[in-house]
Amino acid sequence: MKQKTTFVCSECGYSSPKWLGKCPSCGAWNTFEEEEASVPEQNPAVRRPSLVSAADAKAVPYDELDMPDYMRLGTGLGELDRVLGGGLVVGSVVLLAGEPGIGKSTLLMQISDRLGSNRKVLYISGEESGGQLRLRAERLSVRGKNLSVLTDTHLEHILSEMDKVSPDVVIVDSIQTMYSDKVNSAPGSVTQIKETAMAFISRAKSFGISVILVGHVNKEGGIAGPKVLEHMVDSVVYFEGDRQQSYRIIRAIKNRYGSTNEIGVFEMTDTGLEEIANPSEMLLEGRPKNVSGNCAVCIMEGTRPLIAEIQALITPTVFPAPKRASNGIDYNRLSLILAVLEKRLGQRFSAHDVYLNVIGGLHIDEPASDIAVAMAAMSSLSDRVIPDDLVAIGELGLAGECRAVSNIEQRVREAARLGFRRAVVPYRNAPKCKDIKDIELIPVRSIFETIRLLREPENASASFS
Ligand code: TYD
Ligand code: MG
Repeated sequence: MKQKTTFVCSECGYSSPKWLGKCPSCGAWNTFEEEEASVPEQNPAVRRPSLVSAADAKAVPYDELDMPDYMRLGTGLGELDRVLGGGLVVGSVVLLAGEPGIGKSTLLMQISDRLGSNRKVLYISGEESGGQLRLRAERLSVRGKNLSVLTDTHLEHILSEMDKVSPDVVIVDSIQTMYSDKVNSAPGSVTQIKETAMAFISRAKSFGISVILVGHVNKEGGIAGPKVLEHMVDSVVYFEGDRQQSYRIIRAIKNRYGSTNEIGVFEMTDTGLEEIANPSEMLLEGRPKNVSGNCAVCIMEGTRPLIAEIQALITPTVFPAPKRASNGIDYNRLSLILAVLEKRLGQRFSAHDVYLNVIGGLHIDEPASDIAVAMAAMSSLSDRVIPDDLVAIGELGLAGECRAVSNIEQRVREAARLGFRRAVVPYRNAPKCKDIKDIELIPVRSIFETIRLLREPENASASFS
């Protein structure tokens, strides 16, 4: 085979005969890596896995298309099944990404055990020895029925073992450690990842094997390797959380067989991951009391309402340009909320540093948390405490108006269930919640009314202190 050197963009896989500082395809800087590539005719990356071979593909009238009935396998972890859209689809390829040490191998070993109750599972590990895997499995009380383990990184050999074992489910831990003889570059390089992932994907599609690929994340939090990897697989699932703390969140960012709204919550215990069916309770555990800058909100994660806590810390700035740091809320959203407060309420945020944090490592990307963010910010700025039993829900408009949000009833009910006694809700949403017991509604039309609650608590409710 004729060899030549190419430079490949590690973000998008664009290749160029010479090194480039900026990728002309995706615009990323300093992403070109030198790789030895085979000549294009033999480049395996151009082969595409396909459900039908090119020869028999033809146009079909819409109503003759088969309505698919995906067969799904229960993983034994309901939280994971929900994120996948109801279980692992037979013949699908899932990419599970996460930081080292977050618990990917633990999660996969746990589900291997359950999947093994009626399917053949092959766990391929390129990172740990058989002994290490066994040690972990013992800790997780894995029985290992129908489970085979292969500690190897050589693709061609792995594929021939797969033919012998003929598994229903294959776990590849991790795709960055695998290498193929067909490519000369090192494991983890763009071409190796593409080549090996493509081989597993073709197997999955042609033999109906469910494949889970573990992917490492780079320092920016993206999946290490080519961006095309995410396009090649059916679902991309992130496993995240704070390693110092025990809870872990799993979320789909791409899912060909379900929605991407759902999250699954787990706790890492000394016997593995345990599902948390009521994450709100966990997130509220150990909440600080009587501190300014804290405000509870009820967000929707897919079909589930979830109570989250927003913390703001506002301090006079010592920098020429005030600092803004946001953890869990989009930075631009925070800037917008601060701009509205500055313009409509005349608050001097421009002279203050603003730090915002969502407790529990959650990422909130719905505007229904705006009012809570605004209240937390105002509470910290004025040093007035928001009562612990108050939850604030609503979107903030640019004119300072408080806009209605979806699923208000579900949100307020969840708050009431968890012991909240007051709910700030958008005025237009309030009628929908009037039948909910044990919680007092505080309907607000605008940010002015909301902030007045902080200034003149007695107007809002007799017990507002
Ligand atoms: P691991 O699954 O190896 O993470 P990854 O594959 O994502 O790199 O898990 C790593 C951490 O989980 C490790 O630091 C120990 C901890 N752990 C527990 O707390 N309880 C357990 O039962 C197991 C197996 C691991
Ligand atoms: Mg691991």
